[in-house]
Amino acid sequence: MPMNIDRTVTAVEDLRILARRRVPRMFYDYVDCGSWSEATYRANSRDMAEWNFRQRVAVNIEGRSSETTLLGEPVAMPLALAPAGLAGMQCADGEILAARAAAAFGVPFTMSTMSVCSIEDVAAATKRPFWFQLYMMKDRTFMGDLIDRAKAAGCSALVLTLDLQVQGQRHKDIKNGLSTPPKLTLANLANLMTKPRWCWGMLRTKRRSFGNIVGHAPDIDDTSSMALWVSEQFDQTLDWAAVDWVKARWGGKLILKGIMDPEDARHAVSAGADAIVVSNHGGRQLDGAPASIHALPAIVDAVGNETEVHFDSGVRSGQDVFRALALGAKAAHIGRAYMYGLGALGEDGVARCLSIIRKELDLTMALCGVRKVEEITRDTLVPRN
Ligand code: FNR
Repeated sequence: MPMNIDRTVTAVEDLRILARRRVPRMFYDYVDCGSWSEATYRANSRDMAEWNFRQRVAVNIEGRSSETTLLGEPVAMPLALAPAGLAGMQCADGEILAARAAAAFGVPFTMSTMSVCSIEDVAAATKRPFWFQLYMMKDRTFMGDLIDRAKAAGCSALVLTLDLQVQGQRHKDIKNGLSTPPKLTLANLANLMTKPRWCWGMLRTKRRSFGNIVGHAPDIDDTSSMALWVSEQFDQTLDWAAVDWVKARWGGKLILKGIMDPEDARHAVSAGADAIVVSNHGGRQLDGAPASIHALPAIVDAVGNETEVHFDSGVRSGQDVFRALALGAKAAHIGRAYMYGLGALGEDGVARCLSIIRKELDLTMALCGVRKVEEITRDTLVPRN
């Protein structure tokens, strides 16, 4: 019997539970994990709830809208899909499906450098321009080529990630032997047999490795892993001069991602960032860094008048979007929330994730007596003692 999504999936958590059932363990764990002790990963969502809402009554709230603009583009709500590697391993052609769902809903999709589908695959599948995320790698010629490909594909912003010169260590990925394409060990085969929907999708697509990188990487034999090779390519010399190089080469709107410190935020503004993303990479990089929501207010105070401040890490609901906006963010980005949607139900899962979040945002606005997202200010929250 077909699933009635409207009744069975009413929160992002339902998508997570469904994804855990449907996605092979190696790829589910890749999403649902943080680095080392996972303290920062857990704190990101938990500490959001330290902010309560200021309930208001007897305010005319008819005609509310969550529409706004981001970097001058109209959006259906102040939200974007964050870049996430291996979306195409949550379900076949995952990046294409997520980009389509985001375009249909009217919010930006950010494509990761570490995608399974290529920039060109996604550009061919959606009419709405998407954002492209760049990881700085050692080979500048390759970086230049990727930037040119993003330009040729019509990407409307470049998101340069600054918090991954070295990759955070995630115990689950090591223990699961995460690799792309997956190695067909006995344990993996046994696990795959319990995931027929995923396997069927993968059999139908040829996209099973890093689509933006395969032509650039040396031939990877069956025994070595593409993921391992990629992890050795990150450029540890990345500094503000390198950011200038990227900005000059790109020439369009630039978003700097992974800012957790007001001083770095000021550097980002001096470097000409059109927006910054306050983010600890969803707790996947520096374990022990503060929850992203704690870093947000000081950064907004430092640069909020000079650039758009976006926020991610820990957003699982429209209420979390509201909290980020109230603390000064112009938008929230979601990573795991839509990745669970992809693993659970593909394109429908991402669409469902977005509509759940919008409904939660709308109801929270209503009960706080707010009609426009611009009215979500600090005095709509009260800190929990
Ligand atoms: C990420 N993130 C990420 N960031 C980035 O700049 N490039 C990337 O390729 C990836 N890949 C990636 C994979 C997966 C599975 C996850 C969960 C995250 C980080 C991402 O953009 C974002 O910062 C976090 O996901 C935000 O935290 P939440 O929303 O997942 O809690």
